[in-house]
Amino acid sequence: MNIIRIHDIAEHEGEEVTLRGWVHKRTGKGKLAFLLIRDGSGFAQCVAFKGDLDEETFETISHIPQESSVIITGTIRKDDRAPGLPGGFELGVSALNVVQSAALDYPMALKEHGADFALDNRHFWIRMQSQWAILRIRATIISAVREWLDNNGFTLMDTPILTPAAAEGTTTLFETEYFDEGKAYLAQTGQLYNEANIFAFGKVYCFGPTFRAEKSKTRRHLTEFWMVEPEIAFCDLDELMEVEEQFVSHIVQRVLKENRPELESLGRDISALEKVEGSFPRISYDKAVEMIKEIQAETEDPEEKEFLEIEWGMDFGARHETVLTQQFEKPVFVYGYPTQVKAFYMEPMPGRPEACKSVDLLAPEGYGEIIGGSERMSDPDLLLQRLHEHGLPEESFKWYLELRKFGSVPHSGFGMGIERTVAWICGTDHIRETIPFPRTIKRVYP
Ligand code: 4AD
Ligand code: MG
Repeated sequence: MNIIRIHDIAEHEGEEVTLRGWVHKRTGKGKLAFLLIRDGSGFAQCVAFKGDLDEETFETISHIPQESSVIITGTIRKDDRAPGLPGGFELGVSALNVVQSAALDYPMALKEHGADFALDNRHFWIRMQSQWAILRIRATIISAVREWLDNNGFTLMDTPILTPAAAEGTTTLFETEYFDEGKAYLAQTGQLYNEANIFAFGKVYCFGPTFRAEKSKTRRHLTEFWMVEPEIAFCDLDELMEVEEQFVSHIVQRVLKENRPELESLGRDISALEKVEGSFPRISYDKAVEMIKEIQAETEDPEEKEFLEIEWGMDFGARHETVLTQQFEKPVFVYGYPTQVKAFYMEPMPGRPEACKSVDLLAPEGYGEIIGGSERMSDPDLLLQRLHEHGLPEESFKWYLELRKFGSVPHSGFGMGIERTVAWICGTDHIRETIPFPRTIKRVYP
């Protein structure tokens, strides 16, 4: 038996092959029956012609329920009109073995569903072509993340999930009892540990799930999301931006190379992604505020005008980021945010303590922040002061402050949210579709 994966179908034109998969869709008329089979690597049309098969096999194919698991054999033919992914080839059925005939009450018919229904049935929804395409692209993105970092001198350091204190604001902490030690918290970031790791390894990254008890329901927030966090010794803000643009360009270019059929099936504007290479525009927060003010002044819709209200010192909301990024074709760096809206550990701008050496990377086409990063604060006294201002317990940060005493160097790092990146690259509006089983404020099921 010549078992192949649908992904490789084009390499087998004219051969008799066997596919193992599931019936995604069945149609037919008279002497012809069509099965759209998916095997995890793709979707392929299989055509059964009554005259080629014994009566029982043709009857079985003509009535087989959606989702039945099958082993199906036949010859691969080129046909430009054949649906499927990658498509353009079909299998002329010569034999069928039904592994399990699926029950008839499959909840997920092949049509659009409401958000709640789809999420309640996420265990089935992931079988749909759009979800499958998004999650395949996610896997490529993660592979490209690791590939780029591993090939550019970064050492992987796994950082703890159970941590003693907040690092990214005390309002989004998930807490748990920790034996006799009191409370522990699910990690919001691995960054602080990586700031220790760089003094042993120079350039490091951690990559894992991070947790934030986000109280608001938005299209950009999950309570459990995956973040990759590189941290670099002897690196300032400008050098950090160079690393980020190379990193992001590599990721996008790999998806373009490996997942074109998936992108096309999602209706993604591929030409927009093709522009993501080379250097990205860099604008200061000050300039960004001016730009948003100009856009706001020209806006006629009163509701939008209100949303776009901005003064120096405010953090950007989703609408601000959207209108700003619509001005650019590539991801855009916004640096030098107000100190008061950022985390405690950011180095102040020289001579301008009200602004800090932070940089966010905002994705184009309105997708907004995908990366947050900064140069880290070097002065231990100022750090201590910031800890107090942020209401953070000094004793939990003793080790962190000590790093500034023994061989301290300018250093920088960033965190890229995988789900936000997947949403942008796939052109998906809602972050819930970018992870197999999303966790949001209203949902820990299934
Ligand atoms: O900007 P953030 O909060 O930065 C940090 O956590 C730093 N410690 C990173 C670092 O410098 N090492 O988060 C980084 C990124 C955001 O840009 C966003 O992509 C993603 O993490 N992110 C979320 N994604 C989904 N749901 C949420 N609730 C997210 N919060 C942040
Ligand atoms: Mg941020």
